[in-house]
Amino acid sequence: MSALLEAEGLALRFGAVPALDGVALEIFPGEVVAIVGESGSGKTTLLRVLSGMMRPEAGEVRYRDPEGGFHVLHEMKEAALRRLHRTDWGFVHQNPRDGLRMRVSAGGNIGERLMAVGARNYGSIRAEAAEWLRRVEIDPARIDGMPALFSGGMQQRLQIARTLVTRPRLVFMDEPTGGLDVSVQAKLLDMVRALVADLGLSVVIVTHDIAAARLLAHRLLVMRRGQVVEQGLTDRVLDDPQHEYTQLLVASVLAA
Ligand SMILES: Nc1ncnc2c1ncn2[C@@H]1O[C@H](COP(=O)(O)OP(=O)(O)O)[C@@H](O)[C@H]1O
Ligand SMILES: [Mg+2]
Repeated sequence: MSALLEAEGLALRFGAVPALDGVALEIFPGEVVAIVGESGSGKTTLLRVLSGMMRPEAGEVRYRDPEGGFHVLHEMKEAALRRLHRTDWGFVHQNPRDGLRMRVSAGGNIGERLMAVGARNYGSIRAEAAEWLRRVEIDPARIDGMPALFSGGMQQRLQIARTLVTRPRLVFMDEPTGGLDVSVQAKLLDMVRALVADLGLSVVIVTHDIAAARLLAHRLLVMRRGQVVEQGLTDRVLDDPQHEYTQLLVASVLAA
């Protein structure tokens, strides 16, 4: 089985700060990979580089299309990359405001993505939007409601519906529960886990929440100062961490 996405030798610095320093990874179909590490370790930067939103100073990201062709991400034309983000890929931002259009209704936020992949029938777009609202546990009666009036948890669920409605193969998530109350986080994580399993998605999820990583991810990458210091199957890494930094991360969660 070949990887959906592979990266090697990624490097990027901001001034003197090495945000990425020789990162390599592969994402296989149907796999959920979590990137964990403390704040400032380079997780968001890695996600932005992997998804083509940022260009690395060194190294390469390769993407495999559904026909099996490989593309070097940063050699793709801007329009092709945008198309990729509308079709085969999805991105769930930490702040739902970065992923939603706040002046467009809930139904419009979902319908717009369908139209971007060619849907034209108003009735079926609206029906599918309503179905996706149900799926993320938003009352479909709020289909014409504005996301600005939704709670943070609802906004995040709407962003997830908007992202998944086009059935992307690969979804990037940056701290999807980061801005939410703890009580809301657990419920959202359960929902994400069910949707990912249901749709057979490949996911790269950034989180500083070890418990979330344990719940969702098959595989874990631990980042520190722009480097992957440890990686492996989630249970192995968390139950038997080899690197001192991972041991500290795991211990700090147990102590919390
Ligand atoms: N646009 C930027 N300009 C300058 N420094 C940045 C920028 N983005 C990130 N950094 C720095 O790069 C490092 C990694 O940041 P980031 O990838 O956001 O980490 P994380 O997501 O793990 O918290 C940090 O030291 C951060 O301050
Ligand atoms: Mg971050």
